[in-house]
Amino acid sequence: MAGCFLGHGRLISDGPLNWGVEEVGRIFGDVGLGHFQLSLTHPVERGDYLCVEDDLHGSVLCQLDDLQRKSDLDIERARTLVSADEASIRENLLGIARIVGFRDPQGLVKIPTIPFRPGARVYRAEDPLIAKVLGLSHHTNSGAYVGLLRNHDLRVELDINQLVQRHVSVLAKTGGGKSYLLGVLIEELLRHKVTCVIIDPHGEYKSLRTPADKNGAHHRFGVESQGFSRQIQEYSPDVSLNPSAKPLTFSLHHLEPRELLVFMGLTNIKTFLAPLKQLIERVSTTNPDYTVADLARAAESGEGAIAETLHERLLYVEQTKLLGPQGTSLSDLVKKGEATLINLRGVAPDVQELVAARISSTLFENRKKGKIPPLFLVIEEAHNFAPQQGQVVCSRILKTIASEGRKFGLGLCVVTQRAARIDKSVLSQCNTQLILQVTNPLDLRAISQSIEGLTAGMTEMIQSLPVGVALITGGGYHTPLFCEIRPRATRHGGESVQIVEN
Ligand SMILES: Nc1ncnc2c1ncn2[C@@H]1O[C@H](COP(=O)(O)OP(=O)(O)OP(=O)(O)O)[C@@H](O)[C@H]1O
Ligand SMILES: [Mg+2]
Repeated sequence: MAGCFLGHGRLISDGPLNWGVEEVGRIFGDVGLGHFQLSLTHPVERGDYLCVEDDLHGSVLCQLDDLQRKSDLDIERARTLVSADEASIRENLLGIARIVGFRDPQGLVKIPTIPFRPGARVYRAEDPLIAKVLGLSHHTNSGAYVGLLRNHDLRVELDINQLVQRHVSVLAKTGGGKSYLLGVLIEELLRHKVTCVIIDPHGEYKSLRTPADKNGAHHRFGVESQGFSRQIQEYSPDVSLNPSAKPLTFSLHHLEPRELLVFMGLTNIKTFLAPLKQLIERVSTTNPDYTVADLARAAESGEGAIAETLHERLLYVEQTKLLGPQGTSLSDLVKKGEATLINLRGVAPDVQELVAARISSTLFENRKKGKIPPLFLVIEEAHNFAPQQGQVVCSRILKTIASEGRKFGLGLCVVTQRAARIDKSVLSQCNTQLILQVTNPLDLRAISQSIEGLTAGMTEMIQSLPVGVALITGGGYHTPLFCEIRPRATRHGGESVQIVEN
């Protein structure tokens, strides 16, 4: 028979062709090229993979997108129903299935161009067919193993080249498992010696150094517990709060006046650039080792509104303590094959934005010149750094990296609990989306608008995903798929704080 992938299911049909195959229903009604309806005779769940035998193309993979139980019980009868009558209710379980496709002899995924016949049998799809059509191949050289296809023993490996070249978003409500999943992804990138820089507002990722305590899930997913202390370095602008980090400062003397304006929060370049340049020239001729405080003092002695603004903003920059004479060197900050954590725990939000802006633009400029290796820049809580409404200092550079970074091997990963609040142009540039549970209607709308190929059924399923299950789109796969995230090899650093002792 054509259904060569059908295997060990329960025999329910009497035809000799379907020996050993689990038939779950029949196609009925009007049949489209993308979807069809089926009357179900066996329990299947939304999201389950199905198979239909096509006369021309053999086994075609489909997925159950929606389910409805139809009955002849109307409201009047329901009101007067007694238990003895329950058996008389006639009901049908109906499903809507989406056609995923088949592999043609050239290995391309195609969708039949002629609709299936009404009455055709629908079977539960077996793993080999699912793996073949979805392209789930085990242990690829460039694959990041993030988990198993939901309800199957098939590894989901994301194509690392695609991740870095085409950007990633990780979206979920708070507590949905974003940081846990990102930890899984970073572990994989480190295993493959991919250079990463992580803007870490809560200091969650230093636990990547420490191996996880093993549990049953590690065995089931084939994951060994392992720490990455040799490949992790940590910097922070506030080492008193974050003593495990090295100090992060930027060199005042390496900043162009235009860049200094960014630190000063002055976006009106036309007004302030020339006066700032003059100020720096004046101070540096008498004092080549000038500090921000020297510049502020010189501005104070100037006259007029511009000098006053420069003075006030330079005092602000001095307070941030971000600009020192030396500054952290780029070669220390970015090391090939390692992850650099920029730990911003306890750092004021405005200073966090300055740090993110400076790091992002330094990485972008130096990646363009080829001075640093290709890398993956992760921005946690990205709605704060590239908001949809209002402008913060790092919005512009993050938009530039989202649109141009891939040309230069600078991959961006944005992580957010508010898909509706992050800049749409940044979100829509992400070709791989890792979506965990989202319930806010505005966030769901932003997700469905920015992602191609999401069906209404999938958007509904996102609302009820259990912790640890993600909907993955892109990442080398041609169709969205649900993945049970593998356990961490390292400890998770984002555990909720216990308020009341057990
Ligand atoms: N795949 C998983 N397997 C097991 N536990 C998980 C998984 N994902 C998340 N968790 C647990 O769920 C909790 C929340 O996860 P996490 O810290 O990743 O959420 P988050 O989306 O980053 O939340 P926030 O928005 O508050 O940062 C954690 O305690 C974590 O241990
Ligand atoms: Mg988190």
